[in-house]
Amino acid sequence: MGTNKYVIRGGEEGRERLRLLSEVMGPSTRALLEDVRVADGAACLDVGCGGGDVTFELAQRVGPAGRVIGIDVDEIELEIARRESKQKGLVNISFEARDVCQWEPAERFDVVYSRFLLTHLTNPGHVIEAMHRHARPGGVIALEDIDFRGHFAEPTCPALWKYVEFYTRTVQARGGDPCIGPKLPGLLRKAGFQDIRMKLFHPAALEGGIKLLTCITLEYIAEAVLADGLTSEGELVETIEELRRFSDNPHTILGGPRVFQVWARNGPLTE
Ligand SMILES: C[S@@+](CC[C@H](N)C(=O)[O-])C[C@H]1O[C@@H](n2cnc3c(N)ncnc32)[C@H](O)[C@@H]1O
Repeated sequence: MGTNKYVIRGGEEGRERLRLLSEVMGPSTRALLEDVRVADGAACLDVGCGGGDVTFELAQRVGPAGRVIGIDVDEIELEIARRESKQKGLVNISFEARDVCQWEPAERFDVVYSRFLLTHLTNPGHVIEAMHRHARPGGVIALEDIDFRGHFAEPTCPALWKYVEFYTRTVQARGGDPCIGPKLPGLLRKAGFQDIRMKLFHPAALEGGIKLLTCITLEYIAEAVLADGLTSEGELVETIEELRRFSDNPHTILGGPRVFQVWARNGPLTE
């Protein structure tokens, strides 16, 4: 798919949303990278890297002897990522504008990583097969993706259910799968990966974090929700305001999507 099918607002504003997303996900993504054992000197690929938060993390882990390439279709996000990598003094990192559905890199990687990309694609199975080709023999793939059915609220919050419905329908209308998380182990097996492992992370909060991210995501899918005729502008504004009020109340709990973290190897260990 190209950027036109990506349901969430990207560019400069999108970068700020991804920064918040990275704050919510940071500890669990770092724990995943520990499990995967990203080695000093490794060559890594971050597919659908966005603003590059995990690309930076990988670059720090592999050190000066290693290197990381982040690819994405959003040129604005990539430009921000290049600027930030310079500010961070990371010299083992590069960002390339590529559509993962139409790209064959000339090299193979020790680690192929992707977070929250496959849920947006019409052909996730083909992309995972491509990732199998991109990983060197014995190399590792690590994926993080969502199951949107995981949302919950205490006490119940009708605006949250509207949000889940709007998000689910807009993503599905563009050929994506908002509940792809639990399908990842099967897709990896089908693509030929071995030694498949899985963990689950469920973001939930009384204040900030996933509460704020949920409100912002609803605002950032507004164009798609209205373009798809899922509701009127008036009802959408009311839903945004109701979700904000619920999220601003520190006595309520909001749980986001379940996040599946799945990793596997391309054949047996070679070293
Ligand atoms: C939800 S964001 C996640 C960004 C990043 N992985 C993170 O976790 O911060 C999904 C990213 O996938 C990118 N994307 C969507 N379709 C793509 C494609 N076909 N090829 C490469 N990137 C794509 C979007 O531009 C967006 O930056």
